[in-house]
Amino acid sequence: MNRLKDKVAVVTGGANGIGKITVEKFLQEGAKVICWDINKEAGEKLMEQNKGKSLEFQQVNTVNRSEVDQAVAYIIKTYGCIDILINNAGITRDATLRKMTQEQWQSVLDVNLTGVFNCTQAISEHMVEKGSGKIVSASSVVGLYGNFGQSNYVATKSGVIGLTKVWARELGRKGINVNAVAPGFIATEMVETIPEKVIKDLETKTPLGRLGKPEDIANAYVFLSSEEASFINGTTLSVDGGLVM
Ligand code: NAI
Repeated sequence: MNRLKDKVAVVTGGANGIGKITVEKFLQEGAKVICWDINKEAGEKLMEQNKGKSLEFQQVNTVNRSEVDQAVAYIIKTYGCIDILINNAGITRDATLRKMTQEQWQSVLDVNLTGVFNCTQAISEHMVEKGSGKIVSASSVVGLYGNFGQSNYVATKSGVIGLTKVWARELGRKGINVNAVAPGFIATEMVETIPEKVIKDLETKTPLGRLGKPEDIANAYVFLSSEEASFINGTTLSVDGGLVM
C-alpha cells in the first residue's frame, strides 16, 4: 500500500482488461491516475466504479499526436507533473503473412508502436525537466518468441523491447527508468478470440499451469513504477508463468 503515494500516473488503454486493473491497483497504491482510452463508454464506467478516488478519464487516441499533446498540457497545468507513464494500450489484428491486409498491418503498427512513441516523447520531456520519472511499456511473450499469424503484432512487441533499450540509454542519465513487461497469455478480451483447444495447450505448456490474470501484470507495472525498482532500467520483465525461458 502507498508505494505510489501522490505520484501522477498516466495509464494508456486503461479502460479495459489489464489497463483497468492497473488503474485500480495504482489508486490503491496512492497514485493520482489519469486513464487514457479511446473507449469513452468503458472510461465513464471505470469512473463510476471508482467514484471519489483520484481518477480522471480522458478520451485520447494515442495514435493522434495532437490529442496526446493536448491531454499532456492539461495534466501538467492541473497536476504540475507526470511521474509515471504506463504504455499499455495495444491491439491485435491477426492474419497469416499470406492473408494480412495493409490495413491490418498498419493499424497494429500505429497503436502498438506509434502510440507508444507519441506518449513517451510527449511525456518524457516533462520528466526530463523534473529529473525523474518511470516509463513502463507493454511488450508480450510473442515479442520474444514469435507467433503464428501475428506478423504485425510480433513486430510491434519486439519493437517495444528495442525502444525500451534505446530510451533506457537516452533517458537513464536524466533520472528516468524505462522498462517493459512481457505478459504471457492473460485472460482478457484480447485472448477471447483464441480457440479453447489452443488455450488448454497453452495452460499445459506453462509451468505454473494456468493463464495469467490482469492482476499479475498490474502488479509488475506497480513494481516497475515504484522506488523499489529504482535501479532497474532497460529490462523486459517476463510475467508469463514460465512459458518462455
Ligand atoms: P484489451 O483489449 O482488453 O484493452 C486494451 C485497451 O486499449 C482497450 O480499452 C482499448 O480501448 C484501448 N485502446 C486501443 N487502442 C487505443 C488507442 N489508440 N488509444 C488509446 N487506447 C486504446 O487488452 P489487454 O489484454 O488488456 O492488453 C493490454 C496490453 O497488454 C496490450 O498492449 C497488449 O498487447 C498487451 N498484452 C496482452 C496480453 C494478453 O494476453 N491479454 C499478452 C501480452 C501482451
